[in-house]
Amino acid sequence: MIRSSDGGHPMKEPKEAVRHPWTIRPERPEDAPLVEALVAAGFGPGRYAKTAYRLREGVAPEAGLSFVAVENGILRGSVRFWPVAVGAEKSLLLGPLAVQSDQRGRGIGIDLMKTGIEAAKKAGWKSIILVGDAPYYARVGFAPLPRGRVKFPGPVDAGRILGLALADGALDALAGPVRRARIDEPVCAADAPLA
Ligand SMILES: CC(C)(COP(=O)(O)OP(=O)(O)OC[C@H]1O[C@@H](n2cnc3c(N)ncnc32)[C@H](O)[C@@H]1OP(=O)(O)O)[C@@H](O)C(=O)NCCC(=O)NCCS
Repeated sequence: MIRSSDGGHPMKEPKEAVRHPWTIRPERPEDAPLVEALVAAGFGPGRYAKTAYRLREGVAPEAGLSFVAVENGILRGSVRFWPVAVGAEKSLLLGPLAVQSDQRGRGIGIDLMKTGIEAAKKAGWKSIILVGDAPYYARVGFAPLPRGRVKFPGPVDAGRILGLALADGALDALAGPVRRARIDEPVCAADAPLA
């Protein structure tokens, strides 16, 4: 139990012991250029060649699941999620996740992911997949998927294909090729395949 500063009524313990100096809030349309710049700085021009980017081409990020970390009016970090299909199942692809280079190691990345994961769960999503470093993403519950079960449309190190179940057994249902879940804006031939 703690007491209010005026020595009056006892106050409840804060629900979360850790208070961050940054705020995580939904990304707004006017944040987009800053988010793009952050992602460009974090991943460099080679990002477009990455397999995960093929799944984002022509597809808008999942509405309501893009978040930014803001501190003193400065955009410190960003996370977005993309809808994908894995075999016959729908899933979410986490990323890009990027934090300002001089602000890393403060917990912003983890905080952004936790917020996004919670929102995805509330929105009824059953699983999230990503391509990334297992030791880092294990901090929010991701684990490597069984090798060969889920196939990305390009070269990906199998040990970096990670998954997180938001509903019991949801990862067991994920098998087969990963494709774009929809095309919002065709970037090539109108009848190009979703993969
Ligand atoms: C990856 C990234 C988003 C992490 O953001 P961050 O705000 O620094 O992360 P957090 O502060 O929440 O977590 C930092 C902790 O994770 C660890 N960590 C960071 N990257 C890691 C990695 N690739 N593998 C293992 N651990 C890692 C740090 O050592 C630190 O550990 P500590 O808490 O014991 O000191 C940030 O480094 C970044 O923007 N990188 C460039 C873009 C990128 O690579 N994105 C991910 C691609 S899959």
